[in-house]
Amino acid sequence: MSEAVRITRAATKKPKPKDSELGFGTVFTDHMFLADFQEEKGWYDPRIEPYGPLTLDPAAAVFHYAQAIFEGLKAFRGVDGRVRLFRPDKHIERLNNSARRMCIPPLDPDWALRSLVELVGLERDWVPASLGTSLYVRPTIIATEPFLGVRPAKAYVYYVILSPVGAYYAEGMNPVKILVVDKYVRAVPGGVGAAKTGGNYAASLLASEEAHRAGFTQVLWLDGAERRYVEEVGTMNIMFRLGDQVVTPPLTGSILPGVTRDSALNLLREWGLSVSERQIAIDEVIAAARSGRLREAWGTGTAAVISPVGELSYRGERIAINAGRIGELTQRLYQAIVEIQYAKVPDTRGWTLEA
Ligand code: COI
Repeated sequence: MSEAVRITRAATKKPKPKDSELGFGTVFTDHMFLADFQEEKGWYDPRIEPYGPLTLDPAAAVFHYAQAIFEGLKAFRGVDGRVRLFRPDKHIERLNNSARRMCIPPLDPDWALRSLVELVGLERDWVPASLGTSLYVRPTIIATEPFLGVRPAKAYVYYVILSPVGAYYAEGMNPVKILVVDKYVRAVPGGVGAAKTGGNYAASLLASEEAHRAGFTQVLWLDGAERRYVEEVGTMNIMFRLGDQVVTPPLTGSILPGVTRDSALNLLREWGLSVSERQIAIDEVIAAARSGRLREAWGTGTAAVISPVGELSYRGERIAINAGRIGELTQRLYQAIVEIQYAKVPDTRGWTLEA
């Protein structure tokens, strides 16, 4: 699409929350980006409008068969005051991979990048400045065609909304407690586990609720076939430091290919650490914890950044990791990623894009 973006400005501006009051995902900015898709036209009518409700037909395919995908990325206000998106190209690539898996028409990557830059640029005053805060960017595509048959829809809307955020977990950088579940599974080989689609999150809610009631922040999923191998945490990928090696589950199609996972693996390899993307059985993690080889565990995610794991609970056994404290490598990774995001160090990897 080469059309210019039509801009309709909001008549009134909302009050902006103080940085210290920011939670996660409850406040939205003044504008949103929209574009429509129809089979005959492709993606068309890119526009920025005042933030507000969408009007959809009750028969819209998204409501019935869940053709819906989304992304989550962040824009940061650097220490120099400038606003930068973190790895937007990687997020657009993943959005398009999710689109293909869910039979949704992909976006032209350059055009999608422009949509993010233009919207975040227009809303730059909404990007908070304090360390630990950012503007969360939520690109979404849903099927809008009204019909009741089961087939890919012929009409869609792409929209982008923005939300100034603080820490994702109430714990902040304090280690989280995670329940390993073997009663439910999140994804199976050949399924949609690698797509960022709403259904994966709906499928995770019951296990998460049960875990919350038992005092845990999150659940750790095991593989859907054998319920034996570690997969992901649902809002984060997971990494273990076993002896001198960092181990993380491989991208075999049932876990989300995390962008922060990729950033962390890049940094660890640059630092000369031994990193292995391989299957890891939960029994191996437990055995390593008992023998003292499990030195650290952390989650990686856009919302959560790097989140230390202080405890794992599996089949009634509670395992403290690093005595429930933040590990040294966890801290180093967090520091390194945050320094790039807030431009405290030069971006030598091409990970940031000014908006
Ligand atoms: C993210 O880390 O950005 C996510 O999408 C996880 C969750 C907020 C859905």
